[in-house]
Amino acid sequence: MEGYHRSVLLKGAIDALDIKAGNWYLDCTLGDGGHTLEILKRGGKVVGIDVDPKALERVHKRLGSLGVLGNAVLIQGNFRDLKNLIFSQADTVGSKIKGAIFDLGVSSLQLESPERGFSFALEGPLDMRMDPGLQVRALDLLNTLTRKELNELFRNLGEEKYSWKLADALVSAREVGQVTTTKDLAEVVEKVYRRMGIRDSKIHPATRVFQALRMVINDELGALQEGLDQVKEIIEKNGCIVVISFHSLEDRIVKNAFKQWKLAGLGEVLTRKPVVPSDQEIAENPRSRSAKMRVFKKL
Ligand SMILES: C[S@@+](CC[C@H](N)C(=O)[O-])C[C@H]1O[C@@H](n2cnc3c(N)ncnc32)[C@H](O)[C@@H]1O
Repeated sequence: MEGYHRSVLLKGAIDALDIKAGNWYLDCTLGDGGHTLEILKRGGKVVGIDVDPKALERVHKRLGSLGVLGNAVLIQGNFRDLKNLIFSQADTVGSKIKGAIFDLGVSSLQLESPERGFSFALEGPLDMRMDPGLQVRALDLLNTLTRKELNELFRNLGEEKYSWKLADALVSAREVGQVTTTKDLAEVVEKVYRRMGIRDSKIHPATRVFQALRMVINDELGALQEGLDQVKEIIEKNGCIVVISFHSLEDRIVKNAFKQWKLAGLGEVLTRKPVVPSDQEIAENPRSRSAKMRVFKKL
């Protein structure tokens, strides 16, 4: 199997977990298992969770081929149900989990699979569900939201300056059945940008619209809040919780949660400012450019 997801802030994140051989750690966003593998290499054991069954399949194979599957428990589920997922493994894991990592967002596998509909660059259905059990796809949302709701979505989650214009253009295009695939949607956004005379934006103009839709479809902010509420109870004293986020609203949730935990006397924030990737990491892996890592230590 080739072309694994390139893990962001890999060394810094796992250093922060301060792995001790034989202890259990929680990887709440397995993806391709990059962070998990690093924990295993350092002698730790891992409970790995991902909401996407395809991710589980790949990690199962990857760890199996390296002969380290015996030190990992892989669970399909949403980290918003963290407590239940962990309790279901109590016989194996016990209640002693020394640290946790969340590496939010989508994996390269998801982005590069056209049929998942995450990428504006690949023709595919407007799906965007990480969990195939979810009922609502991006196309359902695009077809049912009002112009006002689309505007709010693009403005609030997409932080999109031209949200009204995009909402207008989408409503017009969908009325004549012009928005059914990822490329259709990307084209509507591109046209708006062209009309506005904006050509040299550093990222593709559809990036933020796709990200906003994906975040709603998977209720990513809601899941993050719920996952953080639970993880602080699961991790043992002196254990760390590491979160890598890729969106300012995610980072705000993490920052506020850590602040409240500190005020409640749960421990301390180890990152006064978020840790960001080096210029070299960004050059090698442009997807890392918006990453922010924060670390909390339970005391
Ligand atoms: C950026 S990737 C993780 C990459 C991984 N750290 C690696 O190094 O290979 C994020 C993964 O988290 C999963 N995910 C996102 N939200 C989730 C949630 N609420 N519960 C469980 N998994 C989630 C996605 O399906 C995706 O596979």
